[in-house]
Amino acid sequence: AAAQKEGFRYFMEKETYEQSAVVSDILTGRIGKGGIRLDELPADWLKRFSSITLCACGTSYHAALTGAYLLERLAKVPTRVEIASEFRYREPILDPTGLFAVISQSGETADTLEALKLASAQGLETLALCNVDNSSIVRAASHTVLLRAGIEKGVASTKAFTAQVMALWLLAIYWGQARSELSEETLARELDALRRVRVAVKVQPRVHDRLHRLSKRYLHGHGFFFIGRDIFYPLALEGALKLKEISYLHAEGYPAGEMKHGPIALADAELFTVALMPRSCLHEKIKSNVEELSARDATIVAITTEYFELADDIIQIRAYDHPMLEFFEMMVVLQLLALEIAVRLGNDVDMPRNLAKSVTVE
Ligand code: G6P
Repeated sequence: AAAQKEGFRYFMEKETYEQSAVVSDILTGRIGKGGIRLDELPADWLKRFSSITLCACGTSYHAALTGAYLLERLAKVPTRVEIASEFRYREPILDPTGLFAVISQSGETADTLEALKLASAQGLETLALCNVDNSSIVRAASHTVLLRAGIEKGVASTKAFTAQVMALWLLAIYWGQARSELSEETLARELDALRRVRVAVKVQPRVHDRLHRLSKRYLHGHGFFFIGRDIFYPLALEGALKLKEISYLHAEGYPAGEMKHGPIALADAELFTVALMPRSCLHEKIKSNVEELSARDATIVAITTEYFELADDIIQIRAYDHPMLEFFEMMVVLQLLALEIAVRLGNDVDMPRNLAKSVTVE
């Protein structure tokens, strides 16, 4: 196993470092002259659907939430997101002209598979975004876009999340093209950003080292809030989930603008707030949300591009002109922050207690 880790301490760490290569694989053959190509889908197939439902569990559900912002913005397709275990039992009313898509790393998650079968039984066409070819979910779906993340061993998902968000982003652009919803300018901007993700997800030694040193300050306290807005809200959920999974510390992801409706009552110096503060997306809004928390003495860890006087600690990321690039660079920070805290606590990062890589029972 040591050899398989290629010098890294944990599979999760190795997989975090692999994300740049994964992104290159995902884009291979998919950016052409006319825009995005997804050859696994029949030509014009998407045109027949008036909406899409995305259904998943865990980290894959967070990718789905991110995808909803992208699909509505770029493809202008009404998008709904469902947690598979809830969806199955709530007698859902499905749009008969909608597409039902599931997202799964393993392709074997029982709740997601059953949700897919339920939608098929109602006569809907289905799409699987899945990392494992010939898995149960791939076999049950009408069509599949394989994620191309490679084998993921760490129980806490890293590179599969990247691959899921990338697949959803590609789908949103591809569908936007098909529906003629994308101006030439927007398409060019998206393609340019796609080509730069590889750089944004590359681990910077400076940042990893900083997270290693910073982690010792955050081993106590009564919990973490990860806050963000827009696509940085699902990313905040994912950052909190990573920390919970491997450090066993209490962490919650929250939409930054919603803190004032309850959670701000928890704010004090022992409440650690990890604030996702991109430059390219609602910057002033998130800043004022963080100001409110800081005024109540919360300890602020800001992930941001510039100096921010209210932050107790800053993790600096590079500035980009596209939110998805800031998204991916912050994602790596959150993965490594969770990793470094868990390692300091002496936990087995690859085999967290009580968790399984794939949950094939209810
Ligand atoms: C398990 C794993 C999670 C994963 C979830 C969904 O709980 O521990 O990391 O996100 O299942 O798995 P899937 O394979 O369907 O993406």
